[in-house]
Amino acid sequence: MLRYLASLAAFSTCIVPFVGASASQGTCPSPGHPRPKQPNFVFIITDDQDLHLNSLDYMPNVQRLIADEGTVFEKHFCTIAVCCPSRVSLMTGKLAHNTNVTDVTPPYGGYPKFIQEGHNDNYLPVWLQQAGYNTYYTGKFLNAHSPANYNNPFPKGWNGTDFLLDPTTYSYWNSTFQRNQEPPTTSNGYSTDLIAQHTLGFIKEARDSDRPFFIGVAPIAPHSKTAPDYSGVIPYFISPDPAQRHKDMFPNAKAPRGGNFNPDTPSGASWVQNLPRLDTSQLDYMDSYYRARLQSLQAVDELVADVVSQLEKYNLLENTYIFYTSDNGYHIGQHRMVPGKGCPYEEDVNIPMIVRGPKVPRGKKVDFVTSHTDVMPTLFDLAGIELRDDFDGLPMPLTPGGLAHARKDPRREHVSVEYWGSNLAEGEVGADLAAGTPIIYGNNTYKAMRIISDRYDLFYSVWCTNEHELYDHKNDPYQMNNLFGKPNVKLLGRSLDLVVSRLDALLLVLKSCKGSECTLPWNTLHPDGKVTTLLEALDPKYNAFYAAQPDISFAACEPGYLPQFEGPQEGYAYRRPGDWSSWA
Ligand SMILES: *[C@@H]1O[C@H](CO)[C@@H](O)[C@H](O)[C@H]1NC(C)=O
Ligand SMILES: *[C@@H]1O[C@H](CO)[C@@H](O)[C@H](O)[C@H]1NC(C)=O
Ligand SMILES: *[C@@H]1O[C@H](CO)[C@@H](O)[C@H](O)[C@H]1NC(C)=O
Ligand SMILES: *[C@@H]1O[C@H](CO)[C@@H](O)[C@H](O)[C@H]1NC(C)=O
Repeated sequence: MLRYLASLAAFSTCIVPFVGASASQGTCPSPGHPRPKQPNFVFIITDDQDLHLNSLDYMPNVQRLIADEGTVFEKHFCTIAVCCPSRVSLMTGKLAHNTNVTDVTPPYGGYPKFIQEGHNDNYLPVWLQQAGYNTYYTGKFLNAHSPANYNNPFPKGWNGTDFLLDPTTYSYWNSTFQRNQEPPTTSNGYSTDLIAQHTLGFIKEARDSDRPFFIGVAPIAPHSKTAPDYSGVIPYFISPDPAQRHKDMFPNAKAPRGGNFNPDTPSGASWVQNLPRLDTSQLDYMDSYYRARLQSLQAVDELVADVVSQLEKYNLLENTYIFYTSDNGYHIGQHRMVPGKGCPYEEDVNIPMIVRGPKVPRGKKVDFVTSHTDVMPTLFDLAGIELRDDFDGLPMPLTPGGLAHARKDPRREHVSVEYWGSNLAEGEVGADLAAGTPIIYGNNTYKAMRIISDRYDLFYSVWCTNEHELYDHKNDPYQMNNLFGKPNVKLLGRSLDLVVSRLDALLLVLKSCKGSECTLPWNTLHPDGKVTTLLEALDPKYNAFYAAQPDISFAACEPGYLPQFEGPQEGYAYRRPGDWSSWA
């Protein structure tokens, strides 16, 4: 088993906890070589922020203080495109099929499912505290975390918290906050500004301790706002509220009209294929909705400036990594869709990830694949903690040397994206206004994958309806030309079925992978280690082997992770020509 220990690996035998730079317990650090102080982390996670709709272009402080001072990961993906499951994957380092938190509400997701699955004992703040950190969090934690269950039990592992609670999480104004072990209170103010205040308070608190710190900062912008009538039904969602001071900004901004915006011909698969073309009044609404998102992000941009100057003021900036990301992406008008997320398409899954910190190259952009399951391993790596075997990702390189090699690393060629259940439309265009409920599309269960190298840039998906998609991003960056099943098409100089046979086998491994299998999936297919990339797997000598693999299929569209409805779970491993054995 490969283990990836970073520059601080020499200290990984140091048993935590240790206190600051003066610790001298056990065998480490050796006298005269005080252990370097572990770095601090400020982790800023917005809600539903896109990469592809250009929202970052409207955030000058994020650009100036994080991107220009750090590295932009242009091919960073969430592994499930919806809030709560994505956040759980991020805080556990596991894909959703391994957390089994796959939805935003019970029975398949939400805070109660997070507790039920035992993650409260085994996730980010618990691990970092064990490693000597003070841990703080403010803003949205997980969906279905509410006044009814906030203390039953409390989220573990935090030294200080100020959580936004449901059902007012998405109200923007006068939301319910819940601090430390205190009862929830209704706030008076704009939630992003309150979260900024809490963050500055936590930085101050953290400064007074010898221990390094982690602060999670989770404003809700630019998430849509809950329509103000909680009548017990699922509420519908309207444009986000900007702070008063930002409400007139960007009067001419419009949702970007890329090559898949409200196309003449239907595109995508499953319910997306059946959408009618959007009309002018829907498009006008969606442009104003888009502007409201940009406006709501302005308070986040100000928060970023406040946080950086507070860290600077306390002399903490030099030893602090600042992460800026989102839980999932967003679409407005792509493939004829009204505002929303939850699809495997690029707008929903390729998301912002920008990091600044000690040794992180400034003003650099990189385009190898990273994902949200890499975040936890990355924090471990930077904190000098030995990686857990059950992490499904691996540390993101953050030094000039690491960044230079990653593009050639076969573990950086793929990412899998999964989803279960239905898809919620947002905005008034996505609601049945008379009923006060959102439109919900069924059959949104799928397994998908991106595979990216110098030679190829592919998307492959299999939906629970057994529809397949294959897009060649090199020629079709907007995912408009589904190659799957097209006659006489060649890809990478080969007939399509040869390529598809490899992609299907790879996705079959990824859809149920655990631990290092998720980063080195070709090893499962080729235990001799001779194949580590798609290109190597395409060698004609493996044609018969791949042709014999079971195909991915679904028996039904289920709302949660019920493997018995998800077709073959295992394929064959290549040993000698003609002698293949099941993986089991
Ligand atoms: C944070 O919590 C940990 C674990 O309970 C504790 O050891 C540490 O002293 C706390 N830090 C502060 C500043 O109270
Ligand atoms: C928030 O609460 C204040 C004080 O109760 C009230 O004046 C204000 O109208 C509320 N704001 C919103 C948007 O409901
Ligand atoms: C889901 O897909 C099945 C099979 O393709 C179809 O019969 C059914 O109508 C779809 N259901 C919804 C809610 O779209
Ligand atoms: C995931 O959770 C659901 C709901 O609790 C449960 O029915 C299902 O069996 C779980 N799946 C797995 C693979 O454990």
